[in-house]
Amino acid sequence: MLINMEINPLKKKANISSEISVFAPATVANVVCGFDVLGFALNEPGDEVRMRLTEQPGIRLLKITGDDGRLPLNAAKNTVSASVQHYLRHLNRPDIGLEIELHKKMPIGSGLGSSSASTVAGLFAVNQLMGNLLTARELVPFAMKGEELACGYGHADNVAPALMGGFVLIRSYDPLDLIALPTPSGLYAAVVYPEVDVPTKDARQMIRSKIQLKDAVIQWGNVAGLVSGLFLNDIDLIGRSMKDVLVEPVRSILIPDFYKLRELAMKAGAVGFGISGSGPSVFALVKDEETGRKVTSALRKHLESINIRSLAYISTINNEGPRVL
Ligand code: HSE
Repeated sequence: MLINMEINPLKKKANISSEISVFAPATVANVVCGFDVLGFALNEPGDEVRMRLTEQPGIRLLKITGDDGRLPLNAAKNTVSASVQHYLRHLNRPDIGLEIELHKKMPIGSGLGSSSASTVAGLFAVNQLMGNLLTARELVPFAMKGEELACGYGHADNVAPALMGGFVLIRSYDPLDLIALPTPSGLYAAVVYPEVDVPTKDARQMIRSKIQLKDAVIQWGNVAGLVSGLFLNDIDLIGRSMKDVLVEPVRSILIPDFYKLRELAMKAGAVGFGISGSGPSVFALVKDEETGRKVTSALRKHLESINIRSLAYISTINNEGPRVL
């Protein structure tokens, strides 16, 4: 392929640095009704990757912080290094040497696209070091490989918004067709992570593979309603479309007092509420930061009353994707 032959980042491009640190954002996948096809990016939290070009070919994962020893340092098994490897193989650059550090700044298994944030930070970093050869959109399939390694299925509803920013619709997986959707101005996401572990792999296995036509009708009405709401900047339409009759009824049992949390969030002024990705994090879309604070504090107070520790984030929507630190 053309792009790989002409640039040797180690020698030719004086303006390309040999070391870089990148932040990539957490994401809320599904956005309630759009299982595997909708997601958006947050401004916080997120993960950081530090990457350095070396003379010696091959990828070395030097250190991981913030993971309590839960993630593999083996370069073939870690989603960051494995997807970077796919990228370099695609460019036919076995001569490239890289040292990687991963700094986890968000909880693992939280439903906030933790593996996606790490993988995307790594891919964005290597792509910068190589002279920005691919666009964010072109990096998505490599990041999907990382998701496949992490949970057994290469879903794109975390990695696409993490790379492209904003709300993204995956109109089709084969062929991959990604649609960037508009972000209504002033929108915030209020996220609460109850500290119980829900691995995405398990949360995917519990979903029914057959659905009733009447449920499908409700679901696609809501997906279309949500997408229309984003285009029309119609917050009420967005809110009333945030309903899921397919996945939430099953997965909600993994989240302590889920329906009570919804009631509290809506009472505190949320536009809509649901499970973030595969959970256990829950999120609400809210019209301002103050309402976000009311929502997170009501939810955390309730979780505390049932002896569950939690973390909260109130964030604007990230419209840029990853950034160089
Ligand atoms: N769409 C995926 C799922 C997102 O719900 O399993 C996982 O973060």
